[in-house]
Order: sequence, then structure tokens, then C-alpha cells
Amino acid sequence: MILEDLQETVSFIRTKTSAKPKIGVVLGSGLGAFVKDVEVEATIPYKEIPHFSPPTVEGHSGNLIFGKVGGQSIAILQGRNHFYEGHPMSSVVFPVRTLAMLGVETLILTNSAGGFGESMQAGDFMIIEDHINLMGTNPLMGPNIKELGPRFPDMTEAYDKRLISIMEQLLQKQGTRYHKGIYCGVSGPTYETPAEVRYLKLIGGKAVGMSTVPETIAANHLGLRVAALSCITNLAAGISNHKLSHTEVTETAKRVELEFSSFLREFIGQL
Ligand code: HPA
Repeated sequence: MILEDLQETVSFIRTKTSAKPKIGVVLGSGLGAFVKDVEVEATIPYKEIPHFSPPTVEGHSGNLIFGKVGGQSIAILQGRNHFYEGHPMSSVVFPVRTLAMLGVETLILTNSAGGFGESMQAGDFMIIEDHINLMGTNPLMGPNIKELGPRFPDMTEAYDKRLISIMEQLLQKQGTRYHKGIYCGVSGPTYETPAEVRYLKLIGGKAVGMSTVPETIAANHLGLRVAALSCITNLAAGISNHKLSHTEVTETAKRVELEFSSFLREFIGQL
């Protein structure tokens, strides 16, 4: 069924554009400004796309955008579906699968995350080197769709090492404050308790967020190369002593949006 849905979605998209993007980009909350740097060829609102669901969260638009940046043909998912919104995992990863069916081979995931690594500050970036799936489920549960990938996908290099090294060189060149570390994916929608953050630190994490992990899993299943970058929008619960809010998250994302966008533009140009 998912396969037929994907085929229907791709056929619909093909009535709107003949673009052949090799790179896909998922823009996290408040990081949508990147689109201003793109030579846009087609914008398709999620609500028009069969089997896509429009996002329900403030600060997330829902558009599939095709265009060029740094000489590369890209497809952008501006806004994503989160598990906490009540979408089944199959819907959360549907857009990533769609990109793969359109020919995308490299996927760049961005997100907002709470940080708890040494010397982290709100506004820092974190290159995701690996993740821990704490969402309590996995998007590949259920019958395997063998046309998409294997039953038991390898996750040894879920985040491509070469892409990590390109990102790192670029962040150093830009003089951007950045970290490298493990992203803990949780379901949300509550932010963590301080005890949960201490636990995440103990198991080796440096940042926590409510997205990215399902998409990385689906992308690895599909055989895509994945690069992922977090914007540390806040220190995680209990690390600083103030309460967390979505306003803080979106305000920090807004503050670093231009730096984030110019990083993405350069990064894509180097792929
Ligand atoms: N926790 C979980 N998800 C988040 C956070 C956080 O502190 N900040 C942004 N997304």
C-alpha cells in the first residue's frame, strides 16, 4: 500500500515538475530562511500532494520546493511531520521516501534540539555523528517493503562520515561555534525532565530532539547518504535553570537562521 501511495505521489509531483534533484534537504522549525537562497523552480504545498499531511506546528510551513543552489539541483521539504502530532511513523517518513523515489541520493536533515554537551550554548550548531532512538518505535516496523530496502538495515554509518568531515571543515572556516555528538530522538511533545536529561547524558548523548531519527532510519533503509545538523536552540531541561518554551526554540532558530542558511548553501555547493 505504501508503495502504491508513493507511486501516486511521485506521479502527481511529475505533473508539476520534471526536476531531477540528487540532494534533498529537510528544514527544521524556524530554519526555513534557507529557501530565500534558492533559485526556486517549483513550490508545491503539502496540502496539494496526495498522501502528504500539512504540518500542524507553529513555525513550520509545509512546502515541497524544487530549485537550484550552489549549482546543484535540490528538493527541499520545508516543514516536517512529527510523531508527536499523532502521525503514524509511515506518514512521518513518507516525504523522505518520496524524495528517494524522485532520485535523491543524499539527504540533509536539519533540526532544533536541546543541548547538554560540555560548553554548549544556545545558538551553537551540532553535527550529528550518530543517534539513539528513544521514540519507542521504529518507522520500519511492520512488513518490510523490499522495493525500498532490506528487512534489517545496517546502521553502522547512519550519518555519512565524508559528509560529517565536509560539514566540520566548513563550520571551522565560517568560524561558527559547533559541536559533534550523538542526538537522542524522543517522541515529545513534552520537553524532558531534568532527570531524563541526566539519563541522556549518561548514555552518551549531547542533544535531544523530537525529529530526525525516523527520517534517518528510513533514509538508511533506502540506501541514501545522510548528513544531519542540529541548531541547539536551548540548553536542555535542568542544564540551565529556566523553564523551556517553544518561543525560546523559535527565537534562537530565528537568530541563527542566516548563519544556518549560508552554511547550508556552501555545504550543498561542495557536494
Ligand atoms: N528537547 C526536545 N526537543 C527540542 C528541544 C529540547 O530541549 N529543543 C528543541 N527541540
